[in-house]
Order: sequence, then structure tokens, then C-alpha cells
Amino acid sequence: MSAHTTEKTTVDVKSSVVRLRGVSKSFGDKRVLDGIDLDIAPGEFVALLGPSGTGKTTLLRLLSGLQLPDAGTVLVPPVRTVVYQEPRLVQARRVLANVTLGQRGKAAREPGLAALAEVGLADKARAWPATLSGGEAQRVALARALVRQPQLLLLDEPFAALDALTRLQMQELVADLCARHRPAVLLVTHDVDEALLLADRVVVLRGGGFALDRRIDVPRPRDRDDPAVTAHRKDYLSALGVTPRRPPLEHR
Ligand SMILES: Nc1ncnc2c1ncn2[C@@H]1O[C@H](COP(=O)(O)OP(=O)(O)OP(=O)(O)O)[C@@H](O)[C@H]1O
Ligand SMILES: [Mg+2]
Repeated sequence: MSAHTTEKTTVDVKSSVVRLRGVSKSFGDKRVLDGIDLDIAPGEFVALLGPSGTGKTTLLRLLSGLQLPDAGTVLVPPVRTVVYQEPRLVQARRVLANVTLGQRGKAAREPGLAALAEVGLADKARAWPATLSGGEAQRVALARALVRQPQLLLLDEPFAALDALTRLQMQELVADLCARHRPAVLLVTHDVDEALLLADRVVVLRGGGFALDRRIDVPRPRDRDDPAVTAHRKDYLSALGVTPRRPPLEHR
């Protein structure tokens, strides 16, 4: 791990599907990633936290292949898919065609329908994107990412634009789908609780490197009030530079 890492997570490096070594990326004078190392094991769910502008999306873009590092090596599996904050559907195509986008022929139809059924949208195959709610559109984006059976699923704040209830439902759906399909996952989020409820391992990116990288060994389904979760939350908030507000005078 990089010089910034304060705690080491043991990953069997030989079996990792993602392997970053000494990866750096700068924009102008700003060094966003400063020689980072990262391994993700097959089927491992990693959540990536970090203050705004620290380079989370940059790291995700390096993993997706949309961006190249200035230095270091990036090893990723061949099949990778990404879900963004916004669903990015093609408005001129029906829902099923969006799910099977880029896949040719009738052979894509059955897996596309199965993926839609998995996200609870079997009845929307012929609908137009403009007729979907925000949550439904995001579920289509999830189906489109899953139908390709990725070895690495990259999620960049996929729940951030959803209302609180839809967000909870989507979190559960993603947890179920990932448990069933077992891709390696990198979930970028600003929400410490979301990270602690969903991930096998939570990493904080700050100052160009990893400020905290810890395995979350709490059985699922997790309860945010579980003392083990609460203890992790404190450490993660502190690694993010969030200090608890002082209690009101009468409680001191
Ligand atoms: N293509 C680019 N050209 C110039 N600067 C860039 C580019 N992409 C990212 N940056 C800069 O790199 C830094 C990290 O950006 P990045 O989008 O990775 O942050 P982030 O951690 O995802 O932030 P947020 O939580 O707000 O999404 C920012 O200062 C951003 O302005
Ligand atoms: Mg971002």
C-alpha cells in the first residue's frame, strides 16, 4: 500500500482482479493520485470515500480505462461496466434496447429481459426512458451494467440523485445483485453509512493516497446502530476530517 496508508488490508495479491501499483495522476500542478497501490479480490465489494475533489472519479476512470495514469501500472479484468450518478439512457431507444445497447442480435434479448426482471422492471421493457421515474431509470442503468456479466462493476455515486426511500431500496437491490453475481465492486460514495452497510472493505482517499483502508467484518444484514458499525463510523469520519460537533452546553 502507499505511504499514505495507515492500516493495511490483507488481500491475496495473486488472486486479485484489480491491481494498481504506484499509480499517479496530475491535472496541471495538482497531483490528484500520488503513487497509490490497490488490490481488489474477485467478488470483493470495496467502497471508496473521500472529500469532494480528492480524485475518486479519477481513480474510477483509471479503472474503467477512460483515463490513463501518468505513472504506475493498472491491471483490470477485461469486462468492466460503470453506473454513474445519472442513468445516461439513450432517450430514442426503448428500455430493453438500452439494456442491450452495443450487443448485437436476438441473442441479447433474453439476457436483457432477465436483467430487467432482476431489477424489478420486467414490465418496462417496451417503455421509453422519458416515462421512467428517477429510481426506475437508475435500475435500468444497473440492468445494463449487469447484463454484460462484469468481473468489475464500477459505481460512481449511483444513489446520490435519488430520494431517501428510493436510495435505501436501491442500496438493498445492489447488495442482493452483487451477492448473487459476485463481481468485484468499487462503489464511490460520500455516505459513510452507505459504505459501512454495503462494503466488505472501505477505503478513504485523501491527500493523494489512502488515509484508511479497513475490512468491515460485520455480518449482514448490517444495522447502522450496531456498536461495531458505530465504532467504524467514528474512525471513518475522523479519516475524512469530520470532527463531531460539540454537544450543547447543558450536556457537557
Ligand atoms: N479532466 C480534467 N481536467 C482537469 N482537472 C481535472 C480533470 N478531471 C478531474 N480534475 C480535477 O481533479 C480533481 C479530482 O477530481 P475528481 O472528479 O476525481 O474528484 P472526486 O473525488 O470524484 O470529487 P467529487 O466527490 O466532487 O465527485 C479535482 O480537483 C478536479 O477538478
Ligand atoms: Mg466524483
